Amino acid sequence: MKDFKETILRGIPSQLPEKKEINPDISHAPNRKDILSKEEKKLAIRNALRYFPEHMHATLAPEFTEELKTYGRIYMHRFIPNYKIKAKHLEDFPHKSKQAAAIQLMLSNNLDYAIAQHPEELITYGGNGAVFQNWAQYLLCMQSLAEMTDEQTLVLYSGHPMGLFPSHKDAPRVVVTNGMMIPNYSKPDDLEKFNALGVTQYGQMTAGSFMYIGPQGIVHGTTITILNAARKIDAKAKDLSGKIFVTSGLGGMSGAQSKAGVIAKGVCIVAEVNPQATYKRHKQGWVDQVFSDLDELLDRATSARDNKEVVSLAYDGNIVDLWERIVERNIHIEIGSDQTSLHNPWAGGYYPVGISFKEANEMIANNPEKFKKEIRKTLVRHTNAINTLTERGMYFFDYGNGFLLEANRAGADILNEKGDFKYPSYVQDIMGPMYFDYGFGPFRWVCTSNNPNDLAITDKIAAEILEDIMQNSPNEIKPQMSDNINWIKEAEKNKMVVGSQARILYADAEGRMKIAEAFNNAIAEGALSAPIVLGRDHHDVGGTDSPYRETSNIYDGSQFTADMAIHNVIGDSFRGATWVSIHNGGGVGWGEVINGGFGILLDGSSDADRRLKSMLFWDVNNGISRRSWARNKEANFTIKRAMRMNPDLKVTLPSVVDDDLINNLVF
Ligand SMILES: NC(=O)c1ccc[n+]([C@@H]2O[C@H](COP(=O)([O-])OP(=O)(O)OC[C@H]3O[C@@H](n4cnc5c(N)ncnc54)[C@H](O)[C@@H]3O)[C@@H](O)[C@H]2O)c1
Repeated sequence: MKDFKETILRGIPSQLPEKKEINPDISHAPNRKDILSKEEKKLAIRNALRYFPEHMHATLAPEFTEELKTYGRIYMHRFIPNYKIKAKHLEDFPHKSKQAAAIQLMLSNNLDYAIAQHPEELITYGGNGAVFQNWAQYLLCMQSLAEMTDEQTLVLYSGHPMGLFPSHKDAPRVVVTNGMMIPNYSKPDDLEKFNALGVTQYGQMTAGSFMYIGPQGIVHGTTITILNAARKIDAKAKDLSGKIFVTSGLGGMSGAQSKAGVIAKGVCIVAEVNPQATYKRHKQGWVDQVFSDLDELLDRATSARDNKEVVSLAYDGNIVDLWERIVERNIHIEIGSDQTSLHNPWAGGYYPVGISFKEANEMIANNPEKFKKEIRKTLVRHTNAINTLTERGMYFFDYGNGFLLEANRAGADILNEKGDFKYPSYVQDIMGPMYFDYGFGPFRWVCTSNNPNDLAITDKIAAEILEDIMQNSPNEIKPQMSDNINWIKEAEKNKMVVGSQARILYADAEGRMKIAEAFNNAIAEGALSAPIVLGRDHHDVGGTDSPYRETSNIYDGSQFTADMAIHNVIGDSFRGATWVSIHNGGGVGWGEVINGGFGILLDGSSDADRRLKSMLFWDVNNGISRRSWARNKEANFTIKRAMRMNPDLKVTLPSVVDDDLINNLVF
């Protein structure tokens, strides 16, 4: 432990560490395309070398050139630390500020080899969701967090620690920006270029903001979505029982689908082209059976449906092959979706049909133009199969991965006669009107003791608080409250903790504030043994402006603005967040979304009590007020309720005009 602390405090080592070979037993990011000109490559090397003293330059310059040539990026693999990166007890991280130690814990969890998707390339999930661009940034950031006091703020530009600046104890300890660009420089190739130069990164949502808690974060949201999709197509359904859900992706987030399908009590089939991802989920127990023969798989699924069996099945292959065989055999599928990484179609997020996984990966780097062509062809076939099945009665929804957007860009038959997408996003149909507009979102917490006993105590506290609130909940939100109470009561049994002792729970503003207050009191009283970090996914009520996902159920035109996300992060930072972040990209892709988040440390103090109340109230109600102004009736209901609960909240309410009046206007 002493060695670990000393190593962190050293930051960039003064002597060159041994050169490291990359670990062949773990998953690595696909090589990125060669996009820089010769002069730009020199600039990338110059940029990388500025982290190191001059005496290392002669050794590192050719090494970094080789990395750039091989991977299309400079990761600085030589500087991967020798210690295991993982969430530990808060006190095990060197620190002068407990808040800064909590941030070390959270970012270490994002880079834990057992959790991160491509740990040696500093990617947590989503193929390109980066925590840092290179290992020098990691070393410097950890060193700064270890040295900083409660009167300083660390400024991070896309993973680069710009430095510690004097501030004050109510200010955030860290302010993170990821991928923020001048708007005209936010095309996919701009990301490739400026990321290769080492000046920006794709932070996804919870990767670059240090708030990833493993796949459980997404399991809860996915369970809610699948349950409500089943209820949507069958008013009598309580859950997914006796229904088949077909989708794709067993990666970082998408891997949650197989587990959620089982929690929702149905038959779930997931196609996955990367055998490493498939077998990881199988080993973990989230996939019950893996098939490489399509007919065996489909026979197994249909008999499971007939017997109302609860099972998750994986197809070791391309989703398009699966859909086409379902069409051929004329099998009825109740619910369909897709969670390949289509936010990143050209660099390994989505694989072409008819080409092996290995060949496709080589093509990304060697023949990117051919790869693009193959992807477009695949998207057209993918859409055609889905169109046939929806005509035969399947309910299909876009799962926030950019599927509709990219299918349309590929020229697939995805628009209806009005020029809109044929299919809704899950936010338009389910998550928006039933959850976000009422203020429910993926609230989460992490026990910094790293002790499962503390987590069990927090689960119990949260369940009691929700049950108490539910007694007086309006009918409009009783079903959501009830699903969430079931979730938290079953959470421990579902064994979803990997890494930090974390829990996700969809809760509204009232729930979040009351749970947070109860945790803070439990810390003060010693019932919890150490502080708690609170946070949320960016995929939430107010933190994210994303016209094809989080704000896809906003219909007043403002879905293409990003004021809400910016207000959110500014408001959180002066109301007491311990760290804040704002990102370009995340979920549906670079240039398509602005999203932000926060973390707040509860240490049992009265300062923490003051901060949590002020910040959580704003964080949710900022989003509700905007949704209400967009005339979303559920949000209108919720903001009026919030105003009654807090007379200092005075929100501008929309006047709703009679449709006939508008429709009779002559233009
Ligand atoms: N709706 C939500 O709540 C939500 C949440 C998180 C992520 N997402 C989005 O979902 C997508 C997936 O996220 P992730 O973290 O799992 O990414 P990921 O890259 O870890 O996983 C995607 C998986 O899809 C597989 N795949 C790609 N093309 C395929 C094909 N043609 N057939 C079969 N498998 C294929 C890949 O091999 C990969 O394992 C992203 O676009 C992400 O932004 C949505």
